[in-house]
Amino acid sequence: MNRGLFISIEGSDGSGKSTQLSYIREYFRDRNLDAVFTREPGGTSIGEKIRNVILDNENSEMCPLTEAMLYAASRAQHVRELIIPALKEGKHVVCDRFVDSSIAYQGHGRELGDCVSVINGFAVGDCMPDYTFFLDLDPEVGRGRIRSDAFDRLEQEKLTFHRRVYDGYVKLLSEEPERFIRIDASGTVEEVKEAIYASLDEIFQIRERNNG
Ligand code: TYD
Repeated sequence: MNRGLFISIEGSDGSGKSTQLSYIREYFRDRNLDAVFTREPGGTSIGEKIRNVILDNENSEMCPLTEAMLYAASRAQHVRELIIPALKEGKHVVCDRFVDSSIAYQGHGRELGDCVSVINGFAVGDCMPDYTFFLDLDPEVGRGRIRSDAFDRLEQEKLTFHRRVYDGYVKLLSEEPERFIRIDASGTVEEVKEAIYASLDEIFQIRERNNG
């Protein structure tokens, strides 16, 4: 049996990732593609508990390294309990954020640097996405789209933080151009959806060609 495809979806806060994920779900459902949809932090019962600790607005004293390690701990569980078994069963896995979020938010946003890659190396081993969609939107525009009274702990960060996160993603894209698919997220919901669908069509055509 062929291993499933592992696809992660990344984007700055307010880039419309949640809306587009619902369309990606439709894409897989309409084509009868067997896929597991999951998210980070979270994805497992242990991971969801870790998520609540990380995003809790009351945990304002959390130091950056603790935060990075909690994300990685959630990810270690997620990879072993859910992602690898699903891929081995031939299912596709679509993950709302993965290791690149840690590199961008903790490595660049929190300025922890390379130690984030090291910690996450332990968490993911060689389980990396085949493709990563990056919904590209200027952080200032993105923040304007979110209601500030609904901000979680990470979203409350200043614009300079989100600018560093964005720059972190841009660097990742330049380092791994074959894994990343950059989607311009400044257009209408429909335009962004069409761009993602076109890329998914291409991904599955390549897969068919390779398997056939
Ligand atoms: P979530 O409510 O899922 O936000 P979004 O819709 O933007 O994905 O909260 C996840 C937050 O956690 C988001 O601000 C990004 C952040 N994050 C990290 O800082 N590091 C990570 O490794 C992950 C997975 C998420």
